[in-house]
This record gives sequence, C-alpha cells and structure tokens, in this order.
Amino acid sequence: MTGLKGECAFLTGGAHGIGRAIAARLAREGAAIALFDRDAKAGEEAAAELSSRGGRALAFAGDVAEADALRRAAAEAEKRLGPISILVNNAGICRVAPFLETSLGDFRETFRVNVEGMFLACRAVVPLMVERRKGSVINMASWNGKSGRPFFAAYSASKFAVIGLTQALAAEVAPFGVRVNAISPGIVVSTEMRREIEEAHRRLGLPATAERQKAIPLGRCAEPEDIAGVALFLASPAADYITGEAISVTGGLWMD
Ligand SMILES: NC(=O)c1ccc[n+]([C@@H]2O[C@H](COP(=O)([O-])OP(=O)(O)OC[C@H]3O[C@@H](n4cnc5c(N)ncnc54)[C@H](O)[C@@H]3O)[C@@H](O)[C@H]2O)c1
Repeated sequence: MTGLKGECAFLTGGAHGIGRAIAARLAREGAAIALFDRDAKAGEEAAAELSSRGGRALAFAGDVAEADALRRAAAEAEKRLGPISILVNNAGICRVAPFLETSLGDFRETFRVNVEGMFLACRAVVPLMVERRKGSVINMASWNGKSGRPFFAAYSASKFAVIGLTQALAAEVAPFGVRVNAISPGIVVSTEMRREIEEAHRRLGLPATAERQKAIPLGRCAEPEDIAGVALFLASPAADYITGEAISVTGGLWMD
C-alpha cells in the first residue's frame, strides 16, 4: 500500500506498544517515520525493523517534556525525511493508586509526560504544519479521559486534559488546514503499560483483565493494531473533514 507515500510522520513513544504498532501501520502505507522515545535502544530497534521492511525510519532519543530535544528532533526529521505532515502524540504513563496514596509528585509526573509532553510536541511541530497549511495531529487519550474511575485520578485527569487540548487546538488551527483529533482506547493488551496496570490491579484486589474482558460488547480486549487502524484513518485523506474528535476505540465498553 502507498496511501501515505511522500508523507512524514513524527511519533512520540513510538518504540513500544501502541506507538510502535502505529508506526508500523503508517510505514506500511508508505510514510517515512520519525520515532521519538525516551527508550533509545528500543527506538533504534523499532526504526531498524521498519527500515528492514523497506521503509524509511529514524529514531530520536529524548523525553517528551523537553522542548529543545523535541524541536531538534523535528528539525532533523524534516531535513532527512521530509516535511512532517502527521504528528502522533502517543507517549504516556499511567500510575494506578488510591487517591489518598497518590503523591503530588506522581500527579505532576503524569501531567508532565501526558499533557506537557503533548503540548510541547505540538509547539514543536504544529507551526510547521500551519505554515504549510497541511497536517494531521493525533493525540492519544483514553476512555479514562471521558469517564473517571477509581484509582486512576492522576491518569484520568491528564487524559481529560488531552481531550481539552485536542479540541481547543483543533478549533484554532482548522482555518490553516491542520486537523487535530484524539483516540480514546479502552483496554489494550500486549503493552508494557497494560502489564503495569494488571500488576497494580492485582495489588489492589481489582478484577484482572481477563475478567474485565467479559464486559466488553465485542468480546475481547484491543490489540495495539486495533488502535493503529484508527490512527491510519485519522492520518489519511479519508478523514479530511474530521477535526476536534476523540474517537472511542473500546469494543463498545464506552459509548458516547
Ligand atoms: N494500554 C492501554 O490499555 C491504553 C489504553 C488507553 C490509552 N492508552 C494510551 O496509549 C499510549 C501508549 O500506551 P501503551 O499501552 O502502548 O504504553 P507503553 O508503556 O507500552 O508505551 C509507551 C511508550 O511511551 C514512551 N514514553 C513514556 N514516557 C516517555 C517520555 N517521557 N518521553 C518519551 N517517551 C516516553 C515509552 O518508552 C514507550 O515507548 C499512552 O498514551 C497511553 O496512555 C493505553
């Protein structure tokens, strides 16, 4: 497939899990890929894997909450891969804990990565898109960004903020031909974050993923590839008239 041939996608948190699956899906459609992740080794491996399949991919090591690192990576990606037309803000962390045991440090760290990181990546890349009157920004939210649940106070608050940022930015840059949308996944397995959540659920005596799966109307949890398909849609011209949305991808667990 070559639906995204000539496009360049910049992904944060693209070395593992959902981000890595999105990178692979966009690369399969012909997009050049810039991966920005704090895990340098995994980022290099992911980029090498994409290149070995005939794609063009580069890895940049850095923290999403560091503005200079993001700006440098975006400039280098444009120089070597071409103008960035797709930004996937996927990097995120989740600390599961009872509210009364959630420290201010944990709360701030969750916002630093999930919200400040997204803000800074948008500050680094969106001006380039506005200048060229072309771009699709895809922000990773969560169903926790649509409904709060016990033990997810910091995470849930951060994902509500992600959706707020998505809507405000979408309205502001729409006149410049730049679309901004969010994806709100439900329970996505086969990722490091899910393993951590599973462990926290066990510690807190909450139901295991296998048990919770029974409440999902489509009968199974999501795999990262389920989210990648929606990201591809939002990145593509098929979504040219969609902006400011937060699309739930939960197998029916959350409907709005
Ligand atoms: N797994 C789920 O069930 C689920 C559900 C809803 C939403 N999400 C969201 O999807 C996104 C990806 O989640 P995942 O399950 O693939 O998690 P993951 O932990 O497998 O992957 C997260 C990636 O982000 C990177 N990262 C984390 N902090 C970073 C930082 N400060 N700077 C740069 N890179 C950083 C990690 O190195 C990793 O590559 C997150 O935003 C998460 O909140 C996940």
